[in-house]
Amino acid sequence: MENDKTTTAPSRIRAGFVGAGFMADVHSKAARAAGADLAGIASSSHASAARAKDRLGVTQAYASVQDLVEDDTIDVIHVCTPNVTHAALAEAALNAGKHVVCEKPLATNVKDAVALTALANSRGRTAAVPFIYRFHPMVREARARVRLGQVGRVLTVQGSFLQDWLLSSEDDDWRVDESLGGPSRAFADIGSHLCDVVEFVLDDRISSLAALNRTAFSQRAGRDVRTEDIVSVVFETSGGAVGTLLISQVAPGRKNRLALEISGTTETLTFDQEQPETLWVGRRSGSQLLVRDPAALDPSAARYCSLPPGHPQGYQDAFNAFISDVYLAVRTGTVPDGLPLFEDGLRAARLTAAVQRSAREGGWQEVPPNHPESTGRKTPLLTLKERQ
Ligand SMILES: NC(=O)c1ccc[n+]([C@@H]2O[C@H](COP(=O)([O-])OP(=O)(O)OC[C@H]3O[C@@H](n4cnc5c(N)ncnc54)[C@H](O)[C@@H]3O)[C@@H](O)[C@H]2O)c1
Repeated sequence: MENDKTTTAPSRIRAGFVGAGFMADVHSKAARAAGADLAGIASSSHASAARAKDRLGVTQAYASVQDLVEDDTIDVIHVCTPNVTHAALAEAALNAGKHVVCEKPLATNVKDAVALTALANSRGRTAAVPFIYRFHPMVREARARVRLGQVGRVLTVQGSFLQDWLLSSEDDDWRVDESLGGPSRAFADIGSHLCDVVEFVLDDRISSLAALNRTAFSQRAGRDVRTEDIVSVVFETSGGAVGTLLISQVAPGRKNRLALEISGTTETLTFDQEQPETLWVGRRSGSQLLVRDPAALDPSAARYCSLPPGHPQGYQDAFNAFISDVYLAVRTGTVPDGLPLFEDGLRAARLTAAVQRSAREGGWQEVPPNHPESTGRKTPLLTLKERQ
């Protein structure tokens, strides 16, 4: 835990939600589970906010986002809107003195992500991005095994995030439209989660990469498509590992398959978020399937076991754990280990920019680290190698 925040320390957090779609559902359930008052909601119209108020059990629907953000009784704003709106909404919330949970991508370009991260640090507010796959206990277990040296020196990484919800040329969504989703679709949407898990588990940074983008259909629902359906990436890390990533939103039968395999000189670890209760531990002899059980896990992983073994935890449980840690940071001013902050959203923006640059221009691209001086952070985020 690091103590670098001033806080208003509200006794019972009053949460406000911007947006009334899928993620407003998920965020509000997690906020309720963490003991918050679901105080307010605003969306693209008062009518849609009013419908969501009734559906989600929120106390008040606001006529405008500005009314919600400027309500002095609200402690935390959850930004759950289309990508291009995130930066301005998060900025408005921080300027109104709120703590912020802003959906990914934090911003659709690096410049805005740097500015937001600097603003959050200067305001001394908790500012988090839901890279929630970090909150599966078996992801924490994988991270602990790497940290403790059980995996050995990490040699290779193989990651994929595969979905099929855009498989047909008739499938469409605001994410396809770059004026709402931003210039990168598949990578910014799900590749960012995958890279976050890779860097989180390895405690290392992707230092350079080469990428190819593909768009499966030049038109969807009669409109030209400029955003990518598929991204393949080759990369190396600061610590010397090499890896590949495959990201697709057109992979038949795959719904939300984030899979990660890390091989070190002693162990291979395999995690699949559609089977999040297990971690495969491969050894030259004596491979085993580790099943989630707090008694058998590192304390950093056991901490996220909210249910007894045999009672499966899933996506919403991971989200609940994330929000619970955000609110802990809001209440105490200390940041729980592994809480994804705006710095991590900035990191995703840098990776997305490097992928886009490589796909457009060809060749290898460096991925610059987050320099503390550009974000106003008092202490640099260190990799494991740098800490040693
Ligand atoms: N962290 C995760 O696991 C995860 C998962 C899914 C989506 N997301 C992110 O969450 C965000 C929202 O996705 P979703 O699936 O909920 O989308 P959605 O389309 O279901 O909902 C978006 C909502 O925002 C409202 N909205 C649109 N423009 C607005 C504006 N200018 N002001 C206020 N409200 C506005 C819409 O009316 C709608 O209610 C996206 O950025 C997405 O990348 C994150």
